[in-house]
Amino acid sequence: MSLRRAHKLRTTAGVLTALAVGVLAPTAGAPAATAAQVVAAPDIPVANVKAHLAQLQSIATANGGNRAHGRSGYLASVNYVKGQLDAAGFTTVVQQFTYNGSTGYNLVADWPGGDPNQVLMAGAHLDSVTSGPGINDNGSGSAAVLETALAVSRAGLQPTKHLRFGWWGAEELGLVGSKYYVSSLPATERAKFSGYLNFDMIGSPNPGYFVYDDDPALEKVFKDYFASLGVPTEIETEGDGRSDHASFKNAGIPVGGLFTGASRLKTSAQAQKWGGTAGVAFDRCYHSSCDTASNISDTALDRDSDALAYAVWTLGTEVPVPPGPSFENTADVTIPDNTTVTSPVTVSGVGGNAPAALKASVDIKHTWRGDLVIDLVAPDGSAYRLKNSSSSDSADNVLATYTVDASSETADGVWLLRVQDVATYDTGFIDSWKLTF
Ligand code: TRP
Ligand code: ZN
Ligand code: CA
Repeated sequence: MSLRRAHKLRTTAGVLTALAVGVLAPTAGAPAATAAQVVAAPDIPVANVKAHLAQLQSIATANGGNRAHGRSGYLASVNYVKGQLDAAGFTTVVQQFTYNGSTGYNLVADWPGGDPNQVLMAGAHLDSVTSGPGINDNGSGSAAVLETALAVSRAGLQPTKHLRFGWWGAEELGLVGSKYYVSSLPATERAKFSGYLNFDMIGSPNPGYFVYDDDPALEKVFKDYFASLGVPTEIETEGDGRSDHASFKNAGIPVGGLFTGASRLKTSAQAQKWGGTAGVAFDRCYHSSCDTASNISDTALDRDSDALAYAVWTLGTEVPVPPGPSFENTADVTIPDNTTVTSPVTVSGVGGNAPAALKASVDIKHTWRGDLVIDLVAPDGSAYRLKNSSSSDSADNVLATYTVDASSETADGVWLLRVQDVATYDTGFIDSWKLTF
């Protein structure tokens, strides 16, 4: 529990429900809000998060030592989390799927209210591997998301966005539950997501403080929080796409999240800035029987839980800035093998310079997106790299919105989306792309 001023203020203010949306600016000690005013986030009691971990440990112990997909400990975990949420006023749904001949379950909890067309979701996988109770991986994220949801209820929060929380099944078998959830959403529902925040392994015993860099706006919220604590962060790189946020990112939903490290070893530079032991894994018990209730750094769990709540409050209560004018080209442009193509968008009537957060939304159909290098080319010819090629990025299609600092460019004129296919065999086409000022 940090001693942030926001916490003290709330304590003296007394009744959380009295804090109307947009009335309370962040106080000294908490990071400044960037655009809109937001409601100050609570300090999440780490003791409450640990109490959930103790329950998940008991569930594993009573069910053959694990909480894995297809085993009794998994459904018992779902029932524990669901019971807490139902008692706190959430609308819960258990979504069933079948994998490897066993029934799997996702748990989704909606907090009534907020703009139904602006959904902010936070989630964590609730399954363990079969070899152990999975308390850091991923009781930690599951418990922190649960306690944040319970804090929303305690606060009687009236967010501007609609808040949703999710616990995924069968992540350990290939992001199965979250893929099933995202693919079960109609396109109209997917389009309502303003962001998905993922928490997978946030109490590693020899912790690092890693922030996903997939979306700059979501990344900034977490970085601001850690900066307010004076804790340095690094970009999460230990296996990009290895958790449930990938299921959302592949559907074009902006994603962010936190991670405190798995089997990779802490370097001496990392031990100097974060403490802990150099040359030892962030989590020596990763996917092992020793991933028990004692395999947790309370400090890491506390900081990451508070950062989670800060992100939900900040993003969930900000008054959305209305988007500026947008310009789109929906004409298909074929991308032959090993060829560079462009698609123009003519911007007029905006005047002045482009914004520091120009949004370029790209919809490319391709059989191997790792082949593609994508640039946005301004009217004067300067190019902004949106995406590099990668031989390991084996997914198809590019469906993403990139944020570009184009503040040194004249807005009006002809902008180009330049797409280079740099490897033989797979091909595709630009389906559409759009600039939002
Ligand atoms: N649940 C992941 C897994 O079992 C853990 C993990 C590894 C992870 N690398 C990651 C989670 C990077 C988030 C980000 O593989
Ligand atoms: Zn795992
Ligand atoms: Ca190709």
